[in-house]
Amino acid sequence: MRILAIETSCDETAAAVVEDGEKILSSVIASSQDFHKTTGGIIPESAAREQIKYIIPVVTSALTKLTEYTRLKNRTLSGMLKQIDVLAVTYGPGLIGSLLVGVETAKTLAYITGKEIIPVNHIFAHIYANWLGGKKPEFPAIALVVSGGHTELFYMESHKKIKWLGGTRDDAAGEAFDKSARLLGLGYPGGPAIAKAAEKFKKPPINHQLQTNIKLPRPMIGSDSLEFSFSGLKTAVLREVNRLKAANQLNKENTTQLSYEIQESITDVLVKKTLFAARKYKAKSIIIGGGVAANKRLKEKLSSTLSHPQPATRNPQLYIPPPPLCTDNASYIASFAYFHHHPVPWEKIQAVPDLNVEV
Ligand code: KG4
Ligand code: ZN
Repeated sequence: MRILAIETSCDETAAAVVEDGEKILSSVIASSQDFHKTTGGIIPESAAREQIKYIIPVVTSALTKLTEYTRLKNRTLSGMLKQIDVLAVTYGPGLIGSLLVGVETAKTLAYITGKEIIPVNHIFAHIYANWLGGKKPEFPAIALVVSGGHTELFYMESHKKIKWLGGTRDDAAGEAFDKSARLLGLGYPGGPAIAKAAEKFKKPPINHQLQTNIKLPRPMIGSDSLEFSFSGLKTAVLREVNRLKAANQLNKENTTQLSYEIQESITDVLVKKTLFAARKYKAKSIIIGGGVAANKRLKEKLSSTLSHPQPATRNPQLYIPPPPLCTDNASYIASFAYFHHHPVPWEKIQAVPDLNVEV
């Protein structure tokens, strides 16, 4: 089954064709990130205006790329759409103007082709980047979605039974990266910028306890709850930045050190809570998705902890998508739609900016 999916929930305009939920036949992304870099963050109306410009070229390009695979000669839009079985689209959560661009485009395609259309929740879909490429994580699994607006833990008993375990009380992990980067003047998006700066931090010699002079809190790390909170971290970063500025010491070295500590704090909390949930629910797999899953340090910490054998239990298998599949794109939207095949008449599909995941 070939699914053409459209994703426009934030600042990306993306379309992809995926076969049987796992094989990416084409995937195209137009990002307005460079545009948003100039303003230091996303301006919702500007994002939607950019997406309106990109959506038709992006969908056409995804279909044209598909013809290279199918060797189709008839490259008219209606000819190319015949290669598709089903349509899928992100209907929330996200920015309303942005979502509308994708939703209305997908509905129009469903109307003119008469094909089924599956509305997709962007947050659940992030998890399915781990099924792309033919991987088959075993259930039960613990899934962590860490993106710009969400930090959510799920228990997956099967594709059909997904239970929300907890989320953030305030800021998301990606938001903590983005806001901290902004305070440090490192630009947008903040996650990759902090990660890059953190890499330059000179670690003390081996056998020396890794430490920085700058110490930030690890919010809620000690509690057994599966909730997160990152707003206190942002406040602590602000305090530290102000202190360094007042002392005229917000130089490259301290920015590097602070970036390192921000990344350590966020990843420590994510690792601790995810492993706690995995043990509690006896998970066979740990599945990570969302933009922050592209963070190398997060992967390093999870992999190294899970490589130590536990007495009497088998460690869960870790799944993290390659970085380009962690950040927003349409391939995992198609994969989710394949495993959750619930078509809805196009007239009934509406964009839901505050769509939630608490099931
Ligand atoms: O999933 P995503 O592309 O969009 C949303 O659905 O929000 O996630 C974007 C978030 C941003 O906060 C960005 O700073 C963060 O993912 N991010 C990273 C990295 N790459 C992207 N955070 C940490 N390390 C990275 N390498
Ligand atoms: Zn996302």
